[in-house]
Amino acid sequence: MTRADLVVVANRLPVDRDDDGGWRQSPGGLVAALEPVMRRADGAWVGWPGRPDTTVDEFDFEGTHLVPVTLSRQEVAEYYEGFSNDTIWPLYHDVISPPQYRREWWNTYVEVNRRFADAAVAVAAKGATIWVQDYQLQLVPKLIRERRPDVTIGYFHHIPFPAYGLFSQLPWRRQVVEGLLGADVIGFQRAADASNFARAVHRQLRYETRATGIRIPNEDGSVRVSLAKAFPISIDAASFVELAHRDDIRARAREIRADLGNPDKILLGVDRLDYTKGIRHRMTAFGELLSENRLSVDRATLVQVASPSRERVEAYVQLRDEIELAVGRINGTFDTMEHTAIRYLHQAFPREEMVALYLAADVMLVTALRDGMNLVAKEYVASRIDNRGALVLSEFTGAADELGSAIRVNPHDIEGLKEAIMRGVEMPSAEQGRRMRALRRRVREHDVQAWSHDFLAALERARKANAS
Ligand code: G6P
Repeated sequence: MTRADLVVVANRLPVDRDDDGGWRQSPGGLVAALEPVMRRADGAWVGWPGRPDTTVDEFDFEGTHLVPVTLSRQEVAEYYEGFSNDTIWPLYHDVISPPQYRREWWNTYVEVNRRFADAAVAVAAKGATIWVQDYQLQLVPKLIRERRPDVTIGYFHHIPFPAYGLFSQLPWRRQVVEGLLGADVIGFQRAADASNFARAVHRQLRYETRATGIRIPNEDGSVRVSLAKAFPISIDAASFVELAHRDDIRARAREIRADLGNPDKILLGVDRLDYTKGIRHRMTAFGELLSENRLSVDRATLVQVASPSRERVEAYVQLRDEIELAVGRINGTFDTMEHTAIRYLHQAFPREEMVALYLAADVMLVTALRDGMNLVAKEYVASRIDNRGALVLSEFTGAADELGSAIRVNPHDIEGLKEAIMRGVEMPSAEQGRRMRALRRRVREHDVQAWSHDFLAALERARKANAS
């Protein structure tokens, strides 16, 4: 039986089924970042294969031992679509969509978190490090600690952690805080998320919080310290640079421009189709610029990639209808035989095509109403090896804390958003270069390898402190 010294626990396994029934690595940045670490450590990864009622035996994949967790159709509906994505997701993103509080969803969330914890405990070697990922698994740290005091536990929260005034709506707020506090290190995207969490701990449990960590009293009177701190996630910047240098991808970027009728400026939005991303705000602003003749379809085209996501959750079904109505209206009003206002693509593309799009785009629009980080902003910047292009970036993203040379915007302010878009469109080339160089330096120096290294180093310090 496999016993691993490093165990990652995430809602999804790092692999997807390919067409002939085999497995291939999933495209996500986290997966790419952890692959070398997992390989070195002979690591294991506990996760759901992504389909209901699918039972798969444990197997090895490119140096990682994979431990699939089976979820029934009802568990997918209640734990994944329900509690994770219709309760926690909207609540933690500032209630942009109203969270649903359903007791049966919570019960299933508890049960499924227990199943993930059991699988992690079974595969972890004595004294192992277990790294739990994201909001679908907030109870797992405590569930592991109860059974395995020998292991060191990390948790990373990829999405925002809300202000206490919102968090306190959650009927199970105390259980969630206690669940997370099972970890030795609790990582967040922004310093503001970490302090929102520390405040929730204080309000719920009255534990003392210091810069060095949250002090949790044990039953025997001793104190355990848990560190809540920002570790902003990033991308594998070098792999984007490499793709951006490839001749075929550069040729594809030129082809995209030509296919769009060679407009002077291409504006680009790339998002999962999610109400947190501010896609409608962006379209409203663009539509008004067209109707005020500040832009015209022969001068500017907006390409909007909206990849399908969580399509069985009602709020996502509604959002898709709203966006497609908006696209239809704007295109119906402004399109000509030669040019389109918005080229809307409800599809997911491989990374090569995304880099070609980034290279073709003069202005990248990231207008999220709330976003833990927003890696698309970093991908755009990393791909601009020519130091050209402009990034319009919402101040409500984690990325805004790091990417100070972007054009900063409040997406709720439609006039401000229109100004920001026009600044991007009209930005002189020398200014583009100045800003893009600074943005690229940040992403290069703080890539996802640095992120996982920093987090695991903090966990290692926690392990030593606990042992002493
Ligand atoms: C966000 C979350 C991830 C999640 C991803 C895709 O980035 O932080 O945990 O995996 O969205 O969503 P999905 O529901 O398809 O896993």
